[in-house]
Amino acid sequence: MSDLCKNWTQWLSQTRFAALTDEMKAQTIAWLESVGDAVVNMAQIQPNDNVLDIGTGTGLLAFKAMEILENLNGDGKIIFSDKFSDCLDSCKDFLDKNPTNVKHQFLNASCEDLKLPENSIDKALMRSVLVHIVDKQPAINEIYRVLKPGGFFCAFEPIIRSNTRYWELLDPKFISSFHEFKDAENKIMSDSNDSLCNFDDLTIKQNLNNAGFSDASTLLHAIESKYIVTKEMVLPWFISPPSPDRPSMKERFLLFFDEKKIDNYISEIQNYLEGKEITIKTNSVLIHATK
Ligand SMILES: C[S@@+](CC[C@H](N)C(=O)[O-])C[C@H]1O[C@@H](n2cnc3c(N)ncnc32)[C@H](O)[C@@H]1O
Repeated sequence: MSDLCKNWTQWLSQTRFAALTDEMKAQTIAWLESVGDAVVNMAQIQPNDNVLDIGTGTGLLAFKAMEILENLNGDGKIIFSDKFSDCLDSCKDFLDKNPTNVKHQFLNASCEDLKLPENSIDKALMRSVLVHIVDKQPAINEIYRVLKPGGFFCAFEPIIRSNTRYWELLDPKFISSFHEFKDAENKIMSDSNDSLCNFDDLTIKQNLNNAGFSDASTLLHAIESKYIVTKEMVLPWFISPPSPDRPSMKERFLLFFDEKKIDNYISEIQNYLEGKEITIKTNSVLIHATK
């Protein structure tokens, strides 16, 4: 585990916002809400549905689904599931303070072994979980197994390997060792054993078809955001871990260069980008599939 981040709830509540200004944090939260709404709306939740949120984290999707079930006033149930118990504890704390009449259950299970009977779930929801699993096929097979025939799998995943790379923001004239760092970053982003970047919309669609889903659709979405860089923003890009148990970009660069060289690269980036407007391209996929 990184020194900077001890568990998923800390990563979700603090670490992921570390490099952001207040304005960018507010935009990110609004974007997360809209992504959550998109996933939950795709599920077309019915009053008696058994809804499973896989890798619930702090409950972004589960609480939205719960609100829908509450309004529908049926007999439906929401299952908060996660591999890490700190996430379930955080959702429990919230529900202790905000009681509900909606039936719910907490399930400490990994996506590859959900510990639920087959054909028991009407709607399986997920956001940004497959991106943390190296071999996505067993996880998708397991989701297929627990869904009832006719049940939906609705999800959102970031497609990190086609996002803007750091070197694309730079001018080689102002950065010593530009080409060495460009090559290293390209190698890091094409590592087939790295869960973060070993997939895209096409491989996910193939995984869904392999599992047996009948009408898998994967809708690729690209957004461009522009912002002005401050010096303080740059260091967290390199030292913040992408998840609690994964190395930061700086730690990955240590496989290629010594620390002094990396620190010099970061410092040159700070000097070069300070005050400049940059455009960042981020890609994601919305998934809908019926068993
Ligand atoms: C980026 S967070 C997303 C949390 C939540 N779905 C959201 O949208 O805010 C990733 C979540 O996946 C969970 N997770 C990671 N690997 C998992 C696995 N193999 N099975 C189930 N959950 C997993 C983590 O505990 C964490 O809660």
